[in-house]
Amino acid sequence: MGWNTWNTFGGDIDEQLIRESADAIVSEGLLDAGYKYVVIDDLWEAPERDKDGRLAADPEKFPNGIKALADYVHSKGLRFGIYSCVGTHTCGRRPASYGNEELDAETFAAWGVDFLKYDYCYKPAGVSGPMLYKRMGQALRATGRKILYSMCNWGAEEPWKWAASCGGHMWRTTGDIADSWASIEEIGFSQDGLEYYAGPNRWNDPDMLVVGMYGKGNCSDEVGCTDTEYRTHFSLWCLLAAPLMIGCDVRSMTAAAKEILTHREVIAVDQDPMGRQGYRVGKDGSSAQVWAKPLSDGSLAVGLFNRANGWAQTIPVAWESVGLHDRRPAVVRDLWKREDLGVFSGSFSASVKAHGCLLLKLTPQRRAV
Ligand code: GLA
Repeated sequence: MGWNTWNTFGGDIDEQLIRESADAIVSEGLLDAGYKYVVIDDLWEAPERDKDGRLAADPEKFPNGIKALADYVHSKGLRFGIYSCVGTHTCGRRPASYGNEELDAETFAAWGVDFLKYDYCYKPAGVSGPMLYKRMGQALRATGRKILYSMCNWGAEEPWKWAASCGGHMWRTTGDIADSWASIEEIGFSQDGLEYYAGPNRWNDPDMLVVGMYGKGNCSDEVGCTDTEYRTHFSLWCLLAAPLMIGCDVRSMTAAAKEILTHREVIAVDQDPMGRQGYRVGKDGSSAQVWAKPLSDGSLAVGLFNRANGWAQTIPVAWESVGLHDRRPAVVRDLWKREDLGVFSGSFSASVKAHGCLLLKLTPQRRAV
């Protein structure tokens, strides 16, 4: 869990922004809610390596250098993340780590980096992507510093099958998210089937959150979403046990965005220690979808999603479809409302508004009541 510069700011970043954002993460209660990593994405780099061949920060954006910034972030009780690429250049055409993996890993460790997002642009033709990810994984390990390795090859060559063996702790499964309902839908609902590959320390990453951006992203196709859609997005990412990387400007969150991003009961679904990724229940082509995520205390998180464009639908979940015996009574809790809805057997159904979601927790009872 953390915050990353890319979604809102793109290359428009500097040390002042990072400091102010770190301050806000603490003062707005995001750190208390679990968001620890402050990650600087692409375009932090100077156009050239320094005279010793090391990566250097853009002197105009980061006049005090990265180490001082990492120290500041650490002084707030946060962790510090940075970005590079397997290729010769980053996606923003700055120097990247191809052929310099060991030197760059050492540089990052010396700066106090705790998280590396490692992208996939400008990979030399004919060189194996998995091999390059392995090379950086090895280089990071060799530094002796604990660095969370976030691999970002947009799902090429099914990274869920090999990323953990390259040292990856999380890996992107798709292309870039945009701040629109269409993008949330396309990415989020396509993750079914990947649950077999996720678990503690090895997470599928359907990209960062767009909650609270309201169309203020760095790409032109970002039309923004309603709070209902942002709540649905957050619910789905939590059911998917996805890394929760905030992408909005945390210095000016709306009350609604803050309420979504800091909702303890919903975050607890994402962060459940068993680390199971949710899956889709039933596979028909309907615009009403049910997703379930088993939790460590024997309960189940269940999401009822209405993907229809203009009308409410009543969406049922049958106990048997999520692995509960028909006659097993279960307490049904509405997590967003923080409210128990009662004890039900066999099934539960509720009306869900368009693009909305009901996020439930089903806690089976030991005896019939
Ligand atoms: C790629 C990544 C994005 C972001 C940009 C930066 O597109 O997928 O998340 O890091 O590069 O250039």
